Amino acid sequence: MAQPAPIADAPDPTAAELIAARPHLTMHAHDGLMLEGVALNRIAAVVGTPAWVYGAGTMRARLAQLQAALAGQDAHVHYAVKANDHLAVLRLMAQGGAGADVVSEGELRRARAAGIAAADIVFSGVGKSAREIRLAIAEDIAQINIESPEELELVSAVAASLGRTMRVVLRINPDVDAGTHAKITTGKADNKFGIAHGDAPAVYARAAALPGVEPVGLALHIGSQILSMAPYRAAYARTADLVHALRDAGHTVDRVDCGGGLGIGYGDEPGASVEAFAGALRASFSNLGVRLMVEPGRWLVGPAGLLLAETLITKGTPATRRFVVLDAAMNDLMRPAMYDAYHGIVPLDPADATGPVEIADIVGPICETGDSFARDRALPCLAPGARVAILDAGAYGAVMSSTYNARPLLPIVMVDGDRWAVVRDRQLHEDLWAGERIPDFFPS
Ligand code: LLP
Repeated sequence: MAQPAPIADAPDPTAAELIAARPHLTMHAHDGLMLEGVALNRIAAVVGTPAWVYGAGTMRARLAQLQAALAGQDAHVHYAVKANDHLAVLRLMAQGGAGADVVSEGELRRARAAGIAAADIVFSGVGKSAREIRLAIAEDIAQINIESPEELELVSAVAASLGRTMRVVLRINPDVDAGTHAKITTGKADNKFGIAHGDAPAVYARAAALPGVEPVGLALHIGSQILSMAPYRAAYARTADLVHALRDAGHTVDRVDCGGGLGIGYGDEPGASVEAFAGALRASFSNLGVRLMVEPGRWLVGPAGLLLAETLITKGTPATRRFVVLDAAMNDLMRPAMYDAYHGIVPLDPADATGPVEIADIVGPICETGDSFARDRALPCLAPGARVAILDAGAYGAVMSSTYNARPLLPIVMVDGDRWAVVRDRQLHEDLWAGERIPDFFPS
């Protein structure tokens, strides 16, 4: 990902530096690496590896920190479900006072199943089916974020056929470069997302005239893993101008959904400052009297999750190339293979964490060269059986897993202070083909 860290040629942060930058992680002299109050070795011994582990206390604290930064503004958090859609995560967000940003029928149903009120749900996404729109209207969610004039017509037609009027906001593409990885930039004019800034007045007017829809505001989302406030400020300033223009044209504009995208520190550098983000919102919107919504995913949950893995085998020498093969793979955590993303890797055992360092490629067992978690990483020497935590895997980790190479989905453990529970079982091999059938016209 537009690698925030480590910067090219900068030395990899050490295990101690990675831990020191994360208040939820500590290295205990006897129990080894702890997430909140629980030793990860204990979890690994009970559930096996690979396994996901999430820290509920960490997620709660991050939500509270964001809300505290937004205090004093009419601004509400709608957690982006796509980052981590586990029911327990969604429940925790609801209990903390967050609503949800969903992008599919499945996410809408998950959010409702976890107890998030329909009135706290917004529906984003560049392609919604008529069936999904019907569900959103039947549930009477807060709003549908419209991404094109064509979608506006569809929502209008569906709502009118149901005899209903749906609140909609128009997602505007502000044509601002978020300065992040090309695969997760969304607010440039040539990205598929949103309605072109210049078309907004005409589309808003059309929305006001159509049956079945009531335009109530604007939305934008410029990308993900954004560390600088400059693109936010630029995009929000353009959006505020548009609010004025629409009001001057006689329209009602009550809400602005300001999107998500706040980045985290994947190395030992800090992530985006939520206080600075709140300042960017205030700078553009404080005098407009609009209700603000924000849709962060990664910032809330990314640092709180990790992937536990065990070393299967090591091969090669540092002089040629050294490989540490883990039992976790790209099908579990796709981000390194997909975006060349950096994830910190820390041994669970204190002796492993402080041992001599070697340069190695940390890879998975899948038959693809792209199945790699780290290349030329300076890490304490890992022997077969040594366990590691791959850090900052709480966002876009489990949700992006596949079962490639017929590898079952991993169990998930939720830690909360000094308590922990298995919140998803390891998938059984039989479950991999449970829904499959061999046609009965095949010879047996
Ligand atoms: N709102 C909308 C409309 C979005 O499309 C997204 C993310 C978010 C909110 C939440 O963004 P966040 O705060 O989490 O950055 N799989 C990629 C990230 C894809 C983000 C897609 N949209 C990754 O692993 O880096």
